[in-house]
Order: sequence, then structure tokens, then C-alpha cells
Amino acid sequence: MSIGLSNTKHFLQIEGLSREHLQSLLAAAKNNLAVADQRVARKDTLAGRVIANLFFEDSTRTRCSFETAVHRLGGEVFTLAASGSSASKGESLVDTALNIEAMGVSGLVIRSTISGGPAMVAKRVSIPVINAGDGRHEHPTQGLLDLLTLQESLGPLEGRRVAIVGDIANSRVARSAAHGLAILGCHVVLIGPPTLVNKSHQEMIKFHKLITISHDLDSNLRDLDAIMMLRLQTERAASYGVSSDYRTLYGLTMERALRLKTGAVVLHPGPVNRGVEIDDAVADEFGGTRILRQVTHGVAARMAVLEEVIRLQL
Ligand code: CP
Repeated sequence: MSIGLSNTKHFLQIEGLSREHLQSLLAAAKNNLAVADQRVARKDTLAGRVIANLFFEDSTRTRCSFETAVHRLGGEVFTLAASGSSASKGESLVDTALNIEAMGVSGLVIRSTISGGPAMVAKRVSIPVINAGDGRHEHPTQGLLDLLTLQESLGPLEGRRVAIVGDIANSRVARSAAHGLAILGCHVVLIGPPTLVNKSHQEMIKFHKLITISHDLDSNLRDLDAIMMLRLQTERAASYGVSSDYRTLYGLTMERALRLKTGAVVLHPGPVNRGVEIDDAVADEFGGTRILRQVTHGVAARMAVLEEVIRLQL
């Protein structure tokens, strides 16, 4: 599902990035880790600049980590949410963005329920736009932080095997991760019930021979270097057609986690539905779990993207 606008100037999707570009963003994010976790002083890349966060869908991690990233880069940031904005009076996303641009901000970070919403804005404004998650399309900074977390634990990802399990149909996280992993030469298995993982996902497979589909979690476990668990996105009607034994078939219990390869990594983008796609013990105690490390990496990854789009603007 390409939204048909390249990433020059903006950061809208992982699909279509070159391996070199992706690796350079990951290297920049890794370098930013010491600033992100406050081991060294903040940078001044965004000194004197204001970034606007336009969040027209709820968020905890992405919204707060973009705000933190701007602070760590020495800039200023404000967040506008749908609730309390004039979107409630019918103002469109593009009109909202044009008005915020007119206030002299240097960049827009946009979360939208509309697949392609940030790209629509990018066609109309002259400042950089960063996609913070758009409908079922992509969540490219999440993809970047997922890759950074996997690289930290596994080293180079080429030839590794990673499963993405759950609500593939509705997941922008899955789309960004699958594209990113395939670009880096990783084998990706999309796993879930036929209602959530099916032929409609062939679009990714057509472009990436490294991506396959399975409906059987158990038979894949022993071959996996990493497993990413996704929640059922009930806000996008994901529960429709999903049987009540979802956890029995696709939940990551401790018994299943112990059948993964030695050293395998467990990821989850959050928010976690404990006891559904992942059990408490795996989320909190399993040695390979990196769920909170992903969140730390989110700040470093978003710093790298902000620095890149601002540099390209100069
Ligand atoms: N992973 C993620 O996008 O979380 P939020 O919806 O809380 O931002």
C-alpha cells in the first residue's frame, strides 16, 4: 500500500527506502542513544526551532517520545490533539496543517486515522512532515526503533528470521517492520488467523520474496531469532471474525517463549493487551523481552529522523 510520495524531504514510510538510507538512519539513532537516555548533554540541532505534533489519534509512546526527542535536540515542541482543536468543528487535517505552518513552525509530526493523511499534508506544505502513524498504512519511526532494538540484541539482521504475529490486516506497525526487515535482508513470517493474515497481504510479498505467511505459530517458534507480538486493533474492527480461542492459538505464553531459539528477542510496540497476545510472565520476566528497550530506542530513532528532515531543509 504505497502512498505514492517519496521520502525526499519528508519521512512518510519505510517502504521504498534504500538499504543504505535505512542503515544510516539506524547508525544515527544508535549515536543518539547516549543523549536520549541523558548520559550526555542534549544537542542543539533544533535550537531556535519549533516542531508541531499534530496527533489526531490517541498515543502515549509516539507522542511523548517525539516531544522528548525535540527537547533532547534543543528545540521547542507543542502538541495539538483532535480533542480540543477545531477539528471538532469540521476543520480538515490539511487546513489544520496549513494554519500551523503559517505560525512559522519548522516541521510537522502527524498521527492520523487516515492512511496517507501525512502524505496528503506533505503535498501542500513547504516544511518537512514526519508520519507518526497513519491508519493502516505505516508507522515508520516505530519501524526504525524496532530495527534498532533488534540490531542491538542480534547484531546484523541479514539472514535472520523474524515473525510478526497477530493483527497484520490492521497493523501499520507490521507494515513498517516487514518492509524494514526485508530491506535489511531478514526473513519475515507474518503469522495470525486467516481473517487477519491472508492473501490481501500479498502486496508485500510481491515486492519482498523474503516475506511469507503462516497461520501456525507453534510450528515456527524454534526457527525464530525474534518475534513481534501485536495487539488486536479493536478500534479498527479487528475482533470481527477472530475466534475466542485467539490466545490459545496465537498468544505468547511462557511455554511458547521457552520454545524460541536460544537468545531470541521478544518485541511488542505497545499498548500491550496482557493475557491476550502476550502473557504477563513473558512481558515482564522472559530474558529476551525488549519491550521497554523499544521505548527508549523510540526517542533516539525519532531524534535521528528529526535531525535528518531538518538537515535536508537547510
Ligand atoms: N507504539 C505506538 O505507536 O504506541 P502509541 O500508540 O502509544 O504511540
